[in-house]
Amino acid sequence: MLSNIARRALKIRGPVFLPQVARAFSSTHGASSFISATNKTPDATPKISCVLELKDRPGALHDVLKYFWKYDLNITRIESRPKTLNALGEARFDFFVDFEANDKNAPSVQSLFASLESMTTKALILDEKDVMWFPRHLSELDLIANRTLDAGADLESDHPGFNDEVYRARRGELATVAQEYQWNEPIPYIDYTEKEIETWAIVWDRMEGLLDKHACSEYKKSFASMKEHCGYSRENIPQAQDITDYLQGRTGFRMRPVAGLLSSRDFLNGLAFRTFFSTQYIRHDSMPLYTPEPDICHELLGHAPMFADQDFADFSQEIGLASLGASDEDVQKLAWCYWHSVEFGLCKEGGEHKAYGAGLLSSYGELEYACADYRPAGGTDDRPEIKPWDPAVASVQEFPITTYQPVYFLAESLNDAKTKMRDFCENLKKPFLSRHNPNTNEIWVDRPVKRKNHPSAAAELEEEEKTA
Ligand SMILES: [Fe+2]
Repeated sequence: MLSNIARRALKIRGPVFLPQVARAFSSTHGASSFISATNKTPDATPKISCVLELKDRPGALHDVLKYFWKYDLNITRIESRPKTLNALGEARFDFFVDFEANDKNAPSVQSLFASLESMTTKALILDEKDVMWFPRHLSELDLIANRTLDAGADLESDHPGFNDEVYRARRGELATVAQEYQWNEPIPYIDYTEKEIETWAIVWDRMEGLLDKHACSEYKKSFASMKEHCGYSRENIPQAQDITDYLQGRTGFRMRPVAGLLSSRDFLNGLAFRTFFSTQYIRHDSMPLYTPEPDICHELLGHAPMFADQDFADFSQEIGLASLGASDEDVQKLAWCYWHSVEFGLCKEGGEHKAYGAGLLSSYGELEYACADYRPAGGTDDRPEIKPWDPAVASVQEFPITTYQPVYFLAESLNDAKTKMRDFCENLKKPFLSRHNPNTNEIWVDRPVKRKNHPSAAAELEEEEKTA
C-alpha cells in the first residue's frame, strides 16, 4: 500500500541474487524482442551497451553479429526495435546490444566498432546513466520490504486496537512473519484465530450481497473461482500462498507479505514484478466494519480477485514499470492514478457503473455510494462527481483519505483503463524504457544504468508527506 494513501508498512531482507537462465528468441519484426540473456546479476557484470541501426534486409543482423564473435565479445542481450521509414522510404531497425567488456577503449571494442562502421547506418556506444535506485530482480524486493518506518504493530492512539494488548501482540507476531519473509520462500500459513475468523465473517456477510450487485463482472468471475480454488469462504480466511499459486497460473501475479508502511515508489516498484505487497493482519474485532488501515479484508476481498484478470494485471504492472527510476514528481502522478483506479476505479457495464477498485470492493458503504443510482446510498444523500477515466486528469486529482471520494473516474472497460494508462506511461519522461521478463523475474532496460544508492525509507516518506 502506498504511504500517503493508507498507513501500511513493509520489511525487507538483505540482497539475494539468483542465477538467471538464458532465454530465447529472436525476431526482427516484432515491436521488440530478446535474443539472449546474461547468467549474471543485472549490475554485476561489466558490460557495454550500444545501439546499431541496420537496413532491413535478410542476413543484416547475422553480418553484424559475426564481428562480436570475431573479437571474442560475449553478447548478453539483443533487443530489436523497428523504426519508421526514412526519407527515401527505406526500412531501418535499431538493435540494442549488450556485451561483456570493461572499457570502451579496449582494442577489441575499438576493432569491433571500426568493422561495424561499414556494416551499419549508425553504431553508437550508450554511456551509463545515473538513475534512481530501482529493483532489477524479484530478489531485490527483499531490499524494499525491510524499509519500514515501524514494525507494523505500532498503532496510532485512535486505532480501535490501541488499548488491546492481545491484539497488539498479534500484530507484532504477524509483522515478524512479514519481516522475515524472503522472496524465494513459500509464504508462511497464518493460523487465524476464531476471533479473527469471526471478524472476517462479519465483513464477508456485509459485503457479499453488495459485491454481487455492484462489483464488475471480472471481479465476480474471479471471486467465484477463488472460492473454489483458494479457500475463500465466510468460515475461512484464504492464505496468501494459496492465492499466489492461483494467480501465478492465471496472470503471473503474486502476493508478498508486508508488515506496514511503504513509500509510493517502493510499493509501485513491486507492481513492475507483478507483485502485490499485502498485509496479513485483520482489523480489530471491536469495530469489524471499520479499519483505519488496509487489512486482509481489504487485500483479499478488494485486491486479490482483480489480479486474476489479465487486463487488470497488465494495467497494474504498467503503473509499476513506469515507476522504475521515475522522478519523484512522476511517482506521485502514478500513485494518484493508482488511487483513482486500482483503489477507487469504476467501469461501465450494461449502462451501469461497476466497481473494480479495491477501496470500493472492500467498503460496503462507499461501494453503494459510488455505484448505486438511488439515494440515500452509503448513508448519505450526496452524490459523487463522475469523470471519464483519463490518467492525465487523475494524476493531478486530489483526494481525501478518510472520507468517501468526492470524485471517481469511470473507464469504458478494464481494457480501456489499461490502454489509456499505457499511453500515459509512454508519454512520461523516463530515464529508460523497461520491461519485465517473467521467466527470469528480471527487469530489462534499454540502456546501461547506474543505480543511485537507495535513500532511507524515512527520508523518502518524509519527502512524500511534503508533496502529498
Ligand atoms: Fe489497497
